[in-house]
Formats: sequence, C-alpha cells, structure tokens
Amino acid sequence: MNQVDYLRISLIDRCNFRCQYCMPEGAELDYILRQQLLTAEELLTLIREVFIPVGFTRFRLTGGEPLLHPQVVEIVRAIATLPQTQDLAMTTNAFLLANKAQNLYDAGLRRINISLDSLDPEVFDRIVGSRGRSRWQQVWDGILAAHRVGFDPLKLNVVVIPGVNDCEVLDLAALTLTRYWHVRFIEFMPIGNSQLFGDRGWVASAELRQRICEAYGLVESQVRGNGPADVFQIPGAKGTLGFISQMSECFCDRCNRMRLSADGWLRPCLLNEMGQIDLKSALRAGVPTTEIRDRVAQLLALKSEINYKQRESGTSAGTYARTMSQIGG
Ligand code: GTP
Ligand code: 5AD
Ligand code: SF4
Repeated sequence: MNQVDYLRISLIDRCNFRCQYCMPEGAELDYILRQQLLTAEELLTLIREVFIPVGFTRFRLTGGEPLLHPQVVEIVRAIATLPQTQDLAMTTNAFLLANKAQNLYDAGLRRINISLDSLDPEVFDRIVGSRGRSRWQQVWDGILAAHRVGFDPLKLNVVVIPGVNDCEVLDLAALTLTRYWHVRFIEFMPIGNSQLFGDRGWVASAELRQRICEAYGLVESQVRGNGPADVFQIPGAKGTLGFISQMSECFCDRCNRMRLSADGWLRPCLLNEMGQIDLKSALRAGVPTTEIRDRVAQLLALKSEINYKQRESGTSAGTYARTMSQIGG
C-alpha cells in the first residue's frame, strides 16, 4: 500500500479569479461562513497534535486562493519550522505573489505551483474571468518574482481545454527550453464547470506528448515528483514537462494524499465523499486531540480501499458537483 503522508490543506475556499473550469462568473457557490473556517490556531493544533503523530510529513497549502488568507505567511512559518515537516509547498494563482514571494520564502516555503493557462493575455483574461482590467501581467510578475526569490522547483500548471488554450501547448512547453521551470499539462476533469467540460471535452496527455515530440523531441526525465505527473524533457532543455493524466490513466490506486477543507473536513479522496470526517466540529466540541487522532488513523486504514473503489469507478465517470476551490485543489 502507498504511504499516505501528504496532506493538502485548503486555507480558504474563496478566490480572486473565476477560472472558467473551476468557479466561472455567475456560478453561485456557497462560500464557507467566516466562523466556520478553521482558525490558524485550530489548523496548527490539528497539524501538530493529529496529522504529524499519525505520520503526515508533507503539506501543501491550496485554496481557493491561499494568498487571500490574512495569516498565510505565519501559517507557512509555523509549519515550516516543525521538525517533522519534510516538504511544504503551495498552489496559487500568483495574482498576489509578487509582493509576498520574499516573505513566503523567508518563512520557509520552497516549492510553489502556479496556474498559468495561457501566454496570451487576452486568452488568459478570458479563462480567469478578468473583469475589465487585465490580470495576465500581474500573474507573470508574480511568477518572475518567485523565480528571482529562488523558489525551486517552480511549477506552472496548465489545464488544457480544447479550442481555448490547446493551441498554445508548444509555446508553453518552450518556456522550459531556457528556464529551470516545470510546465505541467493537466487533463481537464469534469469537476467544477461540467457545462464547459461537456461542451469542450478534454485532450489526452498522449496526444500532447506526440505534438511536442514532433516539434522538439521528448525524452522521459529521471526526475519524478511526489505527485501524479509523468515527467519528460525536451532534449537539452533546462526545465521539464509534466503530464497529469487523471482522465486517460486513472492514478487513484497510487494516491498518497488526503485533503483538509477550509472548514475542517478531512477527505480521503478528491472525487468522492466516502469516509470524510468533520475535524473542526470535533475540536470545537472539546474532543481530545488523542481521540481525533484515533479517528484519523482509522480513516487512514480505509484509504487503500477507497483508492481501489475510486479506481474502479474511474476518474472520468460522472461529473462532480463541487469545485476544486471547495474541496481544496
Ligand atoms: P507536486 O507534484 O507535489 O508538486 O504536486 P501536485 O502535482 O500534486 O500539485 P498541484 O496542486 O499542482 O496539482 C496539480 C493537479 O493534479 C491538480 O490540479 C489536479 O488536476 C491533479 N491532482 C492533484 N491531486 C489529485 C488527486 O488526488 N486526484 C486527482 N484525480 N487529481 C489530482
Ligand atoms: N480539471 C483539472 N484541473 C483543475 N483545476 C481546477 N479545476 C480543474 C479541473 N476541472 C486545477 C487548477 C490548479 C489546481 C489547484 O487545480 O488549474 O492548477
Ligand atoms: Fe481560483 Fe484556482 Fe479555481 Fe482558478 S482554479 S478560480 S485560481 S481556485
């Protein structure tokens, strides 16, 4: 069985973007009420007294948009300084990153994954739902700031949507020729905006690899991350290309992660709600953390069965009502 030692923590379900594939303009989302959000203190108590004792050592902060959390730097510092923390990363849209990159780095964050779905400002703005003012330049400045400050690896996530940004795959791949960046192409999942998914469909990683291979050549890379990406490289390029293929090659059986939502639910799987437990209510009801730890340990014991069941039903079967921002991307 895979070791499940990686916790993805959604700090906040809100976002300053409205990506078409996630929480498009006009979609009514039920945001978590402020008093229902885990406080920073509750989160850190759970990490110290529950997650670390049951064996979690790798953490990723996500959202919604994690940089909207007013205490994000303090939370990074607190997790980074725990002696048991082996890895701490963040997934962000980078809109607020330029001003925060140095503080985050100084607080101990080293790994950052940034969504960048297009190099064309107009296309980008359409995807992320910019109202009036272009967002692309500020995101690009955030990426350059992260690069300057020294985040390594710096990963760029591209959700490939047919007829929207799939024509840019070669240009995005070319970013790795001269930069030590990792560009990852993600198969669009029927999670969040199922209407767009129904209208557009998705592109298989194998097809993208073929297109890139014909243009530049492609070899398998020696580097493999923690995550689901298959890693390749253009010969002689500085950076790498990752392919996250949850539609064409379900990787649920090697899943090594659980998710904690911003309101304190622990979910063993992105795609189904099997086994999830409400840790915040337990904490607020005064349940001792040793008892909460036992509940989490029991859920960990169920994880391989849940992975197996999810693999059987398949990533591409059905659509999922929740968005990544609600579950914790
Ligand atoms: P590292 O490789 O550790 O940097 O992280 P990662 O690739 O897991 O993190 P990131 O937040 O960048 O996730 C990239 C994409 O992978 C997400 O947008 C999802 O599309 C996909 N993904 C991540 N975790 C899961 C998962 O548990 N199940 C499925 N089906 N897809 C996932
Ligand atoms: N399919 C694939 N990836 C998605 N993300 C959000 N919604 C989807 C979807 N429907 C990705 C974002 C970001 C990460 C947190 O989740 O692009 O990289
Ligand atoms: Fe925000 Fe990320 Fe969802 Fe885009 S994908 S709306 S950046 S949470």
